[in-house]
Amino acid sequence: MSDVLARLGEHRLVPVVVLDSAADASGLADALVAGGLPVAEVTFRTAAAAESIRVMASRGDMLVGAGTVLTAAQVDEAADAGASYVVSPGLSRSVVERCGERGVLALPGAVTASEVMAALELGVTTVKFFPASTSGGAAAVKALAAPFGGVSFVPTGGIGPTNLHEYLSIPAVHAVGGSWMVPRDLIASGDFDGVERLTAQAVALAGREALV
Ligand code: 3PG
Repeated sequence: MSDVLARLGEHRLVPVVVLDSAADASGLADALVAGGLPVAEVTFRTAAAAESIRVMASRGDMLVGAGTVLTAAQVDEAADAGASYVVSPGLSRSVVERCGERGVLALPGAVTASEVMAALELGVTTVKFFPASTSGGAAAVKALAAPFGGVSFVPTGGIGPTNLHEYLSIPAVHAVGGSWMVPRDLIASGDFDGVERLTAQAVALAGREALV
């Protein structure tokens, strides 16, 4: 599981994907890989999630996780489909424990000191900071990171090209999540060239950030 975390940290970006149809999963995967970001958090907001994860994970060239996982049963669905990490909007003991049983990385949400402490009690040291922009933004991540030396964050929610740098410049930020490079309407309309273009732009932006 630590290798999954390390690979997420190398890519620095986690595309948060909503797929209305599993038939789009292959084209989306091609676009992400071609754009230089072979990573996806496929959200359980649609019925297409598990099959889409299966399609993308079976390629073998992508780091595929499940997002919006709210229950232990969904952890099972995600793990059965080949997800290697599981993201939740908040902190659920049953979700984190099932992730441990299934050998997949848990990335639960935490935006307060109490939530971070609860995550630490469950053995989790990397949390999703969600929803980032309405939870105080980059300034809040920085302030929250101060007392938790060993904790890293994956801010997500309301992040895009114009404010990405605010988050990536924080040492405690492991990676940043977002949907701006994988707009739902572009995927649904089959505009995978558009997704590839936005993905390549996001990768270039994150790469420049790493050099700052
Ligand atoms: C998520 O589930 O992580 C968010 O919906 C992604 O947020 P964004 O669409 O604002 O990037």
